[in-house]
Amino acid sequence: MTDVMILAAGLGTRMKSRRAKVLHEIAGLPLVAHVLRAALRLTPEAIFTIVGHQAEEVERAVRDEAAYLVERGAAPTDLQFVLQAEQRGTGHAVMAAREQLKGRKGPLVLLAGDGPMIKAETLRRFAETHEAEGNAATVLTVEMDDPTGYGRILRDAQGRFARIVEQKDGSPEELAVREVCVSIYCFEVAALLAALDHLKTDNAQGEYYVTDVPAILLEQGRRVGVFCHDNPEEVPGINTRVELAALDARLRAAKLRELMLSGVTIVDPASTYIHLDVEIGQDTIIHPQVIIEGASRVGANCTVHSWTRLRNVTVEDGVTIRNSTVIEDTVLRAQATVGPFARLRMHAEVGEKAIIGNFVEVKKSKIGKGTKAQHLTYLGDATLGDDVNIGAGTITCNYDGVRKHETVIEDGVRIGSDTMLVAPVRVGRGSKTGAGAVVTKDVPPDSLAVGVPAVIKKKLQ
Ligand code: UD1
Ligand code: CA
Repeated sequence: MTDVMILAAGLGTRMKSRRAKVLHEIAGLPLVAHVLRAALRLTPEAIFTIVGHQAEEVERAVRDEAAYLVERGAAPTDLQFVLQAEQRGTGHAVMAAREQLKGRKGPLVLLAGDGPMIKAETLRRFAETHEAEGNAATVLTVEMDDPTGYGRILRDAQGRFARIVEQKDGSPEELAVREVCVSIYCFEVAALLAALDHLKTDNAQGEYYVTDVPAILLEQGRRVGVFCHDNPEEVPGINTRVELAALDARLRAAKLRELMLSGVTIVDPASTYIHLDVEIGQDTIIHPQVIIEGASRVGANCTVHSWTRLRNVTVEDGVTIRNSTVIEDTVLRAQATVGPFARLRMHAEVGEKAIIGNFVEVKKSKIGKGTKAQHLTYLGDATLGDDVNIGAGTITCNYDGVRKHETVIEDGVRIGSDTMLVAPVRVGRGSKTGAGAVVTKDVPPDSLAVGVPAVIKKKLQ
């Protein structure tokens, strides 16, 4: 079985950031998470991630992504993290994992954490070629129009692989070569371990280069292969924020195209931001300047109006989300209407055909079927039944300064404008509150609560 190693210890000096480069995001995912996705699809026995800069954060990003993918059906793997305390080059990073590599049987696919575009299918063909050719090392290469910055592949007079020369070490003739190394290799582990002992730092950067390993293996009489891939789009390494933004734009355009071809209307692709894993049903219309992030799912026949942001939201069919609405970790049931200017968060659930209107905040609350809160309301830690009407200015006073308390509003209740519901409190089925009521005690069914604090006056009916 194959093992994978991801090099992710570097800071990424050219990013001019305090954040480790592999934690910077494209399409809503850290670079290293993109690499992990491709790696996991090889169903490797183990994935070794070399960490250094912000080791804990990088480890968390990898673990979180793996857990998320396993939850969505990926085969689990043995995740191992190796600390490279000081970053003295890509070869040095591999050396840090010597102990872990000893005794591993399968071939090792080595990837850089800053190469997010590689496809699992390419890696699979690459690893198969390595095995089929019986190589000690195989180097994935690509021809680039502008190879600046990449290690160049030097070949002998017969066109066979000779060695890799880094940008900073190459002569002008060597740097004229357009075939480059993209930091994707496959190694026989025993051969790799033997070669590591021979790495030197006599180069322009004074570093241990993993790019020297193939030439060392050749010297030792081992077989080294080259897998020349035909798609340069899959292999750029990210070194600057300019490259980061360019790749992000590319992934974004591809995602929008896929959605449009599957029957989603994207009114203005140039201003629409939709993350990789978002699913959207047929005939849904996404207006300009909408952002949909995380593991969101939007059903069919929905309309999402401008300046809206959804993150980890499940939207059933036929829902309308009006302008300038921000929704996180929430479920909107079929044909609900939300917004404009609404904010829903922390496991809110809006029932079928319910209406949440302008300047309404819903936090960790369940809103029943057909229930309406149309204006200027805060519903926190509340459970609302079906066909409830919430008057303008109503607030669930859910926090007593120490603890959060729950409000329950049963089916068919009419809450008058500007009612304060001082939780914990329950308003029984069919009851009403008068405008400006401050409800501090439970209201039995079919009652009217009025006043400050509300006195329960009489039974309705
Ligand atoms: C490397 C290759 C170069 C190749 C390019 C492709 C070397 C010497 N050069 O250069 O031939 O064309 O990638 O993108 O390998 N890292 C560590 N520890 C370290 C140094 C780096 O874990 O001590 C990690 C980084 O976090 C990064 C990856 O290795 O994810 C590549 O490092 P980077 O410095 O970006 O290498 P390049 O200069 O781009
Ligand atoms: Ca790089």
